Amino acid sequence: MKEITASAPAKCILTGEHSVVYGKPALVVALDLRAYVKATFNDKNKIIIEAKQFQKKTILPLKFSGDMRIIDEVIKPIYFAVLETFNMFNTTRGLTISINSNIPPSAGLGSSAAVSVATVKAVSEILGHSLKKEQISEIAFKSERIVHGNPSGIDNTIVAQGGGLIYEKGKFEKLKIPKDMNIIIGDTLKRRNTGVLVEKVRENYVKYTEVFENILEAMGKITLEARKHLEENKIPELGELMNINQGLLKALGVSNTEIENLIDATLKNGALGAKLTGAGGGGCIVALANKDKIESIMESINTSGGRAYLTKITCLGVKVE
Ligand code: PMV
Repeated sequence: MKEITASAPAKCILTGEHSVVYGKPALVVALDLRAYVKATFNDKNKIIIEAKQFQKKTILPLKFSGDMRIIDEVIKPIYFAVLETFNMFNTTRGLTISINSNIPPSAGLGSSAAVSVATVKAVSEILGHSLKKEQISEIAFKSERIVHGNPSGIDNTIVAQGGGLIYEKGKFEKLKIPKDMNIIIGDTLKRRNTGVLVEKVRENYVKYTEVFENILEAMGKITLEARKHLEENKIPELGELMNINQGLLKALGVSNTEIENLIDATLKNGALGAKLTGAGGGGCIVALANKDKIESIMESINTSGGRAYLTKITCLGVKVE
């Protein structure tokens, strides 16, 4: 029986989360953790979604009933990615979608976008269409909007493209990425909801608009400066800018004790810079370091209640396996 497996990478925002929602530029890279999505036809005229790590099998209709409550949160982005791909080609087919991801979910690494983008790729390919990365990203964005409210579009764009990007208001520019750059990720293991945190920033923005305008503006400037240092492989300077960015994220109200503890641990053990990555409120931190410090930094994350991952930037965006 015909089957297609597609995959897409995790993402890590190095500078500019939250301010990107307000139209400022952000610096984002794709990481070598991946989500895999297998699509096969079924003769049940249903969309069957199997997500092994959540031990879930969900059977859903080929057309959305209009009742969001019947669909589990984890399954929503996958289901709507399938439906949006059907919409694109004005067709429906019974499909079984199996998810296998090694990206920690709800942790700021774009797991939902990676699964959505890989789903669009797998479904479009099995239906006999080869879409461009931009088109895949656009379809996944539609499904992300249904699920997450008002995302900036940075997640679906980077996981479709791979590599490193400056992303601003729906547009992106590809960056020259230094070879062999190590990126340490520390998962606080505290799960959180991006929409809730974006809304929290929005409420504070409405209350203190002028103050927040200045903070968001400064975050945009940090990104432009950080870009130069990344492309010139000046990692200590990039690290310093990440520390400044973290101070501003704290000012926005999206850091917390779990995040600060992991950041402190990495800096005490020689990290060149560390900050939360993604929406904050838990999820992951990102730290940069010279090679000789990596082991002790990772150990410090693991002994401070987190889980450390050593990653590299991948140029492989969405693809068929
Ligand atoms: O935590 P994540 O992976 O959902 O990333 C959110 C990034 C934000 O800038 C906070 C929101 C967005 O849509 O850009």
